[in-house]
Amino acid sequence: MSDNAGTRIYGNELKYLKEVLDSEFRSSRGSTMMRRFEEAFSERFGTKYAISFVNGTTTLHAALEAWGIGPGDEVIVPPLTMSATTFAVLQANATPVFADVDPETFQIAPDSIEAKITSKTRAIITVALYGLSPDMDPIMDLARKHDLLVIEDNAQCFLGTYKGRIAGTLGHCASFSLQSSKHLTSGEGGIVITNDLELAEQMRRVQSLGYAGVSATKGKITKRDIQDPDYSRHVTLGWNYRMGELCCAVALAQVENIDSLVGKRIEVARLFNQAIEGYEDWFIPQKVGNDYAHSYYTWVARLEKPDIAWHQFRDRFVELGGDGIYAAWQLTYLEPMFKEMRLLGRENFISIENKSNYREGICPVAERLQPRLAQFKTNYWNIDDAKRQAEVLSKTLASFA
Ligand SMILES: Cc1ncc(COP(=O)(O)O)c(C=O)c1O
Repeated sequence: MSDNAGTRIYGNELKYLKEVLDSEFRSSRGSTMMRRFEEAFSERFGTKYAISFVNGTTTLHAALEAWGIGPGDEVIVPPLTMSATTFAVLQANATPVFADVDPETFQIAPDSIEAKITSKTRAIITVALYGLSPDMDPIMDLARKHDLLVIEDNAQCFLGTYKGRIAGTLGHCASFSLQSSKHLTSGEGGIVITNDLELAEQMRRVQSLGYAGVSATKGKITKRDIQDPDYSRHVTLGWNYRMGELCCAVALAQVENIDSLVGKRIEVARLFNQAIEGYEDWFIPQKVGNDYAHSYYTWVARLEKPDIAWHQFRDRFVELGGDGIYAAWQLTYLEPMFKEMRLLGRENFISIENKSNYREGICPVAERLQPRLAQFKTNYWNIDDAKRQAEVLSKTLASFA
């Protein structure tokens, strides 16, 4: 089936699902979708290791645990993103510290990261927000200087590039989500890539109950491993974060079509970029520098006309036939869970000084941006639907001019 058949499921999904069902989930009968998905993913991204997970939050948690991050350690994160980035830090019993973002690219800003580094900082989680990589070189310089782990949270970025390098190969490891809104999906799912063997081995153990029998490239223990009374299974604490074979089957088929799946979103974004021509002085798209290729999880602009309220703009777009506009997430540290310190006991690991930093004013750029951002979905699999949305956006802008 061709990639313009109006669906995102046009490859080997059903074929691979059938293979898993025919195998009755027995690896002895060849049910090895996890390994095949991991190999296909690492091959496409050009990394040595890829480890699949149930979602793109457990990936982040596993990377932090694998690096030995825990109580008392600080991890720098952006506040303008889906909060799972921060949740993973809390899940590891560590302390999230929020760095501000760039006013034009909306990405975590290296100078703000630098200002937030303390003697307790152990890691930085960057987020390629909306599908665009942050400015990674200065971030990696800081990481080298202060001996920090850098995890790229690329839940929203597949095949974006930075200075000619693929996003996801810039930090020490990178996490991806395959939840239903993402470039590739298996309904739910996640994967982490790295070139670091030790990190890969540890992440696999965290993913797989700390089993002795697993390794960076081996996700399942075998009968030989367990049919021995002297076998000691658990060399470390770990969780069952394994992605199921059925999800891996769909994910494998999606990786095979990754270029066209991502390409379609870029094509849709191009339509939105054309639609706003002439209005960019007050409806300003996310800046994409010359060194970057955006993968457009969504297409985003900031509304900078004081006499138009965000809701008014959204309502006009919908009245004229638009599908809707997503607002940016509330900044994580302004969510009630932080205001009320309802962190399922993790608040006990956070110092009073850090607690006092979860308040308005700590990331002024992100605070200014958040209420102004307008996010348009790019996952239209029929390009005519996207063209209609771009036309509606054009009409909406003209109606306010
Ligand atoms: C930036 C970011 N990080 C992490 C996640 C979490 O991924 P998942 O939903 O697969 O756990 C998401 C999901 O939307 C995300 O956008």
